[in-house]
Amino acid sequence: SASEKGGWSSFMAKEVSEQPDAIANTLRGRITDGHVVVPELTEFGDDVLAGIRRIVIIACGTAAYAGQTAKYAIEKWAGVPVDVELSHEFRYRDPVITDDTLVVSISQSGETMDTLMAVKYAREAGAKTISICNTQGATIPRESDAVIYTHAGPEVAVASTKAFVSQIAALYLFALHLARVRGSLTEAELAVQTAELQAIPDKVATTLLEADSIRQLAQWMTDTRAVLFLGRHVGFPIAMEGALKLKELAYIHAEGFAAGELKHGPIALIEPGQPVFVIVPSPRGSAHLHPKVVSNIQEIRARGARIIAIAEIGDAAVLPFADTVIHIPLAAPLFEPFLAVVPLQIFAMELSIAKGLDVDQPRNLAKSVTVE
Ligand code: G6P
Repeated sequence: SASEKGGWSSFMAKEVSEQPDAIANTLRGRITDGHVVVPELTEFGDDVLAGIRRIVIIACGTAAYAGQTAKYAIEKWAGVPVDVELSHEFRYRDPVITDDTLVVSISQSGETMDTLMAVKYAREAGAKTISICNTQGATIPRESDAVIYTHAGPEVAVASTKAFVSQIAALYLFALHLARVRGSLTEAELAVQTAELQAIPDKVATTLLEADSIRQLAQWMTDTRAVLFLGRHVGFPIAMEGALKLKELAYIHAEGFAAGELKHGPIALIEPGQPVFVIVPSPRGSAHLHPKVVSNIQEIRARGARIIAIAEIGDAAVLPFADTVIHIPLAAPLFEPFLAVVPLQIFAMELSIAKGLDVDQPRNLAKSVTVE
């Protein structure tokens, strides 16, 4: 009903706007004196967490992109190798699981059948299991050794938004907790990263202020048949998530690519007028990657691509080559996903609305897939 939507035109619009609170609520109670201590992880004992040799993240859909995003931070901070696997691929082969493997499942609903079965498989094979879940008392957390709940609040729209950013926040808390226990970051480094994480809700709120210009962009693009998304490093999973949102909500063929992979295939798709969203790494924080992505932009622009750049405020290098620039606040490189995904969510939502589609209940999709 209208009152459930709190004055918003859709649950999707409401949930997109709730993202700063969803992240802040997920961080609450898990940071003490500038240090991350996730109470739910203390059940394991520090020696168990210190002895983990490998992490396997299992999830489906948007949750799997949260996992792919967090892989960069977990490996960098905690120094543990991370594989991210789709639940249904994981459970139907013979994955190598040992008792020093930690399996982290991610599921908004906590009921996705493939993920549940993958968790059960992992437990039986001797792995330790942690669930990242948004639904209190759901089945997957009950089947896991420990659970870190995201506190995004109920997510009603079928396409996931606030749960996604909350999943990344929970995984970053997990990574910083692990890094502290393992001693892989110094106290000073832990404090810097924790402060970056605490600054994210306000920066997401700032990013939401771009909504009007993104709506206008979407309204111009209602006839678009295909959209490409390019990203690099943590921008790569965000490019894939942006493409997924557009498929789900606007029924437009969309693909996300790693920018470095462009000349190995995707560049053949570029023809005059082809819209390409490019997630541009920070020129300060990612000084080594930024020029590479700017040069990718030049390569596809020369072939007629229409460039929509998502770039840090003050990034002057992209301006001459982009048809549209969407600005995001300054953040350390590993934190850019929280900000870069927001314009992509809004774009998909606004394009769906502009096409007269049901943004909360896209055709053929279910909020939670509890069958195989
Ligand atoms: C469905 C939803 C997606 C969601 C996926 C995983 O496909 O439409 O939005 O990302 O399931 O759901 P889960 O509840 O496990 O996060």
